[in-house]
Amino acid sequence: MSYLLLYSTRDGQTKKIIMRIAENLRRAGVGCDLRDLATIKQINLMPYQKIMIGASIRYGRFNSVLNNFISKHQKQLNQMPTAFFGVNLTARKPEKRTPETNAYVRKFLIQSPWQPDLCEVFAGALLYPRYCWLDRIMIQFIMRMTGGETDTTKEIEYTDWEQVVGFSETFLQMSCVKSSQK
Ligand SMILES: Cc1cc2nc3c(=O)[nH]c(=O)nc-3n(C[C@H](O)[C@H](O)[C@H](O)COP(=O)(O)O)c2cc1C
Repeated sequence: MSYLLLYSTRDGQTKKIIMRIAENLRRAGVGCDLRDLATIKQINLMPYQKIMIGASIRYGRFNSVLNNFISKHQKQLNQMPTAFFGVNLTARKPEKRTPETNAYVRKFLIQSPWQPDLCEVFAGALLYPRYCWLDRIMIQFIMRMTGGETDTTKEIEYTDWEQVVGFSETFLQMSCVKSSQK
């Protein structure tokens, strides 16, 4: 049994989340291949029983590598058991941490030609000292507007790791056969 876990990250939080998921799946005896969407040129999805994709938001958008991958593989993705999760700072507020209440993920699901069987939203990390000055000022402005942390010396991880483990459990229990194929 082998699962493919794909991610798109800028500052590493989505990779950290998907690595935690892979660790949990491997502990359950499942083989996992982890790949960065930004470095994939060609990939054969056939050998995998399930696929998960995680991606983060930057200035209101997922990275274009996500849409490119989906466009290229939408037919196969829609025929396999799949999961998607989005990572952003809006989700630091629990009421904005579901696919229905998180604007970025809700919009993604409406527009995407790929419809994952499972979907989740995770809060990301605020890493002021690591941002370039323009990003730091922009994020500080957004945080001020939305009642968040404005101290630019701080690094805060909002990710709920219990939620991450719970999602990996649900993914693990998901049937390997799509209901349309049964
Ligand atoms: C330059 C920049 C822009 C961002 N824009 C948004 C945004 O528009 N909305 C949001 O909710 N979070 C935004 N974030 C927060 C990121 O989604 C969050 O830091 C996440 O953990 C990044 O994940 P990654 O490290 O996997 O890229 C932004 C972060 C940075 C650094």
